[in-house]
Amino acid sequence: MSGPSLKKQDAHTSIHEAALNEAKDLNQLFKTCLEKDEMDRAMQVAEIILEHWESRTLKHAEAEEEGLYQEMVSEKPKLEKTVHQLTRDHDLMRRIVSQVKESFEKKKADYEVLSLMEALIIIDEIHNEDEMNKLLANNES
Ligand SMILES: [Fe+2]
Ligand SMILES: [Fe+2]
Repeated sequence: MSGPSLKKQDAHTSIHEAALNEAKDLNQLFKTCLEKDEMDRAMQVAEIILEHWESRTLKHAEAEEEGLYQEMVSEKPKLEKTVHQLTRDHDLMRRIVSQVKESFEKKKADYEVLSLMEALIIIDEIHNEDEMNKLLANNES
């Protein structure tokens, strides 16, 4: 989703929440597999988790960088620093997702990779808050 809908806080927040809730559920499922020592199942869940981050949050980030962020800066140039910070958050998430991917490609499914996936959620939560409060606040149009 891009264009005007991402400018609307409500619509944009629902995109964030839907993706985050799914990511949290998937992490929980992955953790349960580790606890029960079900490694084949853990690897299956791992594939779904990667697919989730790549197709939802990272795609959303790309759409923002190509559309919304540029649009906001051209409307309000003082938002440039905020946009740089938000883009840095996206980069951190991209880097962590690629670390997760490397681990899974080596068939490594353990608590270490779980902690990377928990970190993704924490960064994403802070990022989403900033997107709403620093980028889109007072911007209902
Ligand atoms: Fe974002
Ligand atoms: Fe967003």
